Amino acid sequence: MSEVLLELHGVTVRFDGLTAVHELDLNIERGMIRALIGPNGAGKSTVFNVVTGIFRPSSGSIRFRGEEISRLNPYHIAARGIARTFQNIRLFKNASVLDNVKVGRHYRCRSNIWDALLRLPGFKAEERQTAEASLEVLELVGLAHKKHELAMNLSYGEQRRLEIARGLASNPVLLLLDEPAAGMNPQEKKNLMRLIQDIRDRGVTVFLVEHDMKFVMALSEKITVLDYGRKVCTGSPTEVRSDPRVIEAYLGKEVG
Ligand SMILES: Nc1ncnc2c1ncn2[C@@H]1O[C@H](COP(=O)(O)OP(=O)(O)OP(=O)(O)O)[C@@H](O)[C@H]1O
Ligand SMILES: [Mg+2]
Repeated sequence: MSEVLLELHGVTVRFDGLTAVHELDLNIERGMIRALIGPNGAGKSTVFNVVTGIFRPSSGSIRFRGEEISRLNPYHIAARGIARTFQNIRLFKNASVLDNVKVGRHYRCRSNIWDALLRLPGFKAEERQTAEASLEVLELVGLAHKKHELAMNLSYGEQRRLEIARGLASNPVLLLLDEPAAGMNPQEKKNLMRLIQDIRDRGVTVFLVEHDMKFVMALSEKITVLDYGRKVCTGSPTEVRSDPRVIEAYLGKEVG
């Protein structure tokens, strides 16, 4: 059996009167491309927010590589090896493509402000490593030739790939992608699919939220379906596609 990397057990998230996620059990095995799907408002982004420490669960446990992380803040969770992208792109639009990626390396750096101010040798070596590693991930996502461009000058699809590059710059074990294909044209989606496979082949486990069913079904090995914060089922693309409870969850609403 493969190693369970991330383990959610009985996770509930409440906002005032609303239960956005209800007693969710979910495992992610190392090396997988894993998906979470469901209609709008099902609680998918809330799951990502609770895994990355933006929200704390009202109850339940979240274990990453065997350790409880549900009380840690986002910085410490990121430092342990979980990176993410956001449903609404969050980039420094007035900064260069390369600088946006360098920000992602920050979790790996040891130097402090004094090392930087005094320009100690350790800091300079680290700065060089940061630049090299950032360029390497830009090459992987196909944006190395745009390293000096401002992020705001990139197309929508390129901005999504830049967010992925920033996530990868921290050298994560697990990468969470919240609707990475949103707003992309068919060719961009095809490229993105290949990129996600490359990322997995490099040893990064991928956990993905996506509305484009064709994309999800072609890419993921295992899918969990959420509806109103509750798990409907977990299975292979074929199992999920033919599950009557899934069909009902989607037919009850408009698919976004
Ligand atoms: N910070 C918050 N405060 C209050 N309610 C919230 C908050 N974040 C999410 N919710 C609510 O929790 C529910 C789940 O939202 P969530 O964003 O997780 O859904 P989703 O599955 O990601 O939907 P979509 O496909 O539209 O992105 C929704 O009813 C939403 O309004
Ligand atoms: Mg969402």
